[in-house]
Amino acid sequence: MKTIALISTTGGAGRTMLTASLAVLLARLGREVVALDFDPQNMLGAWLGLDSLAGEGISRALTDASHAWHERTWRNDEGVLFVPHGQLTLDEAAASAARLAADPQWLARATGEIGLADTGIVLIDTPRYPSPHADHAARAADLVLCICAPEPAACATLVAHLAALRESCADVQLVVNRLNPAREMQRDVLAMLRVAAGAPVAQRIHLDAAMPESFARGGWLFDEAPHSQASHDLHGLAQHVDAWLPALTASEPS
Ligand SMILES: Nc1ncnc2c1ncn2[C@@H]1O[C@H](COP(=O)(O)OP(=O)(O)O)[C@@H](O)[C@H]1O
Ligand SMILES: [Mg+2]
Repeated sequence: MKTIALISTTGGAGRTMLTASLAVLLARLGREVVALDFDPQNMLGAWLGLDSLAGEGISRALTDASHAWHERTWRNDEGVLFVPHGQLTLDEAAASAARLAADPQWLARATGEIGLADTGIVLIDTPRYPSPHADHAARAADLVLCICAPEPAACATLVAHLAALRESCADVQLVVNRLNPAREMQRDVLAMLRVAAGAPVAQRIHLDAAMPESFARGGWLFDEAPHSQASHDLHGLAQHVDAWLPALTASEPS
């Protein structure tokens, strides 16, 4: 079993969209998938098919040790096992952040209890980095996918935090999202990012105005517009992750 944290240093980078899309596309490739919402915004469930924000989830175990962290899980239509974050009051949010600060291995221990096959995958959605939740996710992960828009501010904040991320997780890969080839400035920003990060961008996802519209309809861009560039990119990212995971054997579902 491998664990991947989707992390970014700016809001709205596409962490939740990519966590949900990867969960569904990897499940369709025959992978056992757990999608874990470790973001107090609690939005991953909306992408995975819940009609309303989940009231209870992993956060309950942070504020009340008598609850098991996996007490509330859902299996969606695509077979993805989903662990919601849950809704917290301000006091509970402060208590859960304090618990995470006091016990830096909390999430790594929790994900270590998930008994997936070797070929299974846990995907963790996170709030903006740096934050206690995102820091835990990076340290629990075998791979951090660092999501970044090809914009100067997004790249500058990512570069500022990259060393800390690489200390938390040995394998940090860059994914550029919202790429718009019509904007020449983005090419320069990408070149600067490559140099500053000292690593090539592993994957690129193009901007597609239909993406939020598909979400609003409860559908997937890769089903509604399968030949679009962004759909092609999302399949490419899923295949990249699939190739990084231990190979499925013939006896496993495909
Ligand atoms: N490549 C893209 N093209 C168009 N819209 C996108 C793209 N990626 C994400 N979005 C939209 O941007 C918004 C923010 O994405 P989200 O995944 O919630 O970001 P984050 O979780 O990093 O805050 C959503 O409405 C999503 O549909
Ligand atoms: Mg999000």
